[in-house]
Amino acid sequence: MPATVLIGCQWGDEGKGKIVDLLGERTDWVARFSGGPNAGHTVKVDGETFILHLIPSGILRPSVRCVIGNGVVVDLDHLVEEIRTLESRGIRVAGRLHLSGAAHLLLPYHRWIEEAQRQDVRVGTTKRGIGPVYQDKMGRCGIRVEDLLDPDRLRRRLREELERVEGTLRGAGARLPRPRAEIARRWSRRYAEIGRHLAGSIGDTTDRLHRALARGERVLCEGSQGTFLDIDHGTYPFVTAAATTAGGAATGLGLSPRQIGRVVGVAKAYTTRVGNGPFPTQFGGRFGDRFRRHAGEFGATTGRPRRCGWLDLPMLRQAVRLNGIDELVLTKLDVLGGLPEIRVAVAYRIGRRRLTLPPTDPGLWERCRPEYVRLPGWRGDLAGARRPADLPPAVRRYVARIETWTGVPVRLVSVGSGREEIVRMPRSRGSISS
Ligand code: GDP
Ligand code: IMO
Ligand code: MG
Repeated sequence: MPATVLIGCQWGDEGKGKIVDLLGERTDWVARFSGGPNAGHTVKVDGETFILHLIPSGILRPSVRCVIGNGVVVDLDHLVEEIRTLESRGIRVAGRLHLSGAAHLLLPYHRWIEEAQRQDVRVGTTKRGIGPVYQDKMGRCGIRVEDLLDPDRLRRRLREELERVEGTLRGAGARLPRPRAEIARRWSRRYAEIGRHLAGSIGDTTDRLHRALARGERVLCEGSQGTFLDIDHGTYPFVTAAATTAGGAATGLGLSPRQIGRVVGVAKAYTTRVGNGPFPTQFGGRFGDRFRRHAGEFGATTGRPRRCGWLDLPMLRQAVRLNGIDELVLTKLDVLGGLPEIRVAVAYRIGRRRLTLPPTDPGLWERCRPEYVRLPGWRGDLAGARRPADLPPAVRRYVARIETWTGVPVRLVSVGSGREEIVRMPRSRGSISS
């Protein structure tokens, strides 16, 4: 049975957590393949809200086993706290979580470096240390989860890296908060202890997934962030530090591209972005503020106000190409109810040029002016809709237009944050695993 990959089509926060939870009903494994605690995936089950940062959203389905793959960066303190919180809320994690030994450790000094180098201010990051930890990984000086299992090696590596970090901080006009030897001593003890605690979960997750697929089990690869935050294909430099597109599922889990059979793209019915960078369809002024409050668009990780704007088709088309999206899930359609008209950017204009896909030069993004098509809005609350026939004709037309414009079927329409607030659209070709 080939794996399914679920990807955000925009700048993150498309509602991936909710959809992973939904598809989790018919999945044996959910595997995270990139990013770290910068992600914030919200899932609402029976009125209870869970926000997951490192642990895959599949954890809320008791029969699902979860993987944190080699492509993820693991903040141990955060992980331990997330496990504790879930367990205290009755979600069993022990025995169900598989942590790759090859995943890199995100240590407190990664946050110190990010702040000292003002990366957080320039990019508008989540301040979780993501840039510096991936820099260390690529610079081949990272410390990995498997190092936790050998306390002597862990102690030596921490000493070496803290010496290097002290130099980096000094170069940026900052200092370690405590003497280096003291930090090395404390961390060696603390992280070796966490390693002992997690030892049963740590292993070769690539092997576990290959065996699961060979047994015919269903694997769902959970994307974090979104297509346009991808380090290569996003709006560089206003991106995260990892591959967030579908190819990242192969490298971030050790699956071969041939083992990926389906790609599901999750897109909001409009667009949002947190942090800096271009955003051609962004709402301005008072309408933008009113819309954000009405839509509840505040970051799940940092609480920052999200910038909001109309749906952007050049972006969606590019997301479809880059990820090989077979099926779309459209979320937050309920939020658009009550607007007299809805706009969709079908192309960009840069001077006299017309683009139907985003430019490759990130600098040009800033100069893109959207070309809009106006569609009629609709009245009424969609939250109670469960079947296509429950959706007002204007909503069905909006969805159909998106299918035509992108060339991809919309399989699920989400009309609220709850697990059951979903409309399954008729299947004409392909099928979604739920
Ligand atoms: P993720 O990072 O892609 O998992 O998305 P987030 O959890 O950061 O943000 C999505 C937000 O929208 C969360 O607060 C969800 O509870 C909420 N949400 C998801 N789907 C819907 C929907 O169809 N309608 C509404 N109103 N809220 C939704
Ligand atoms: P989920 O998985 C939205 C954004 C940050 C910033 C840029 C770089 O919940 O969709 P980083 O801390 O990664 O170095 O920040 O990326 N960003 C996200 N925006 N949702 C996310 O995750 C994000 N993860 C990172 O706001 O603009
Ligand atoms: Mg999020």
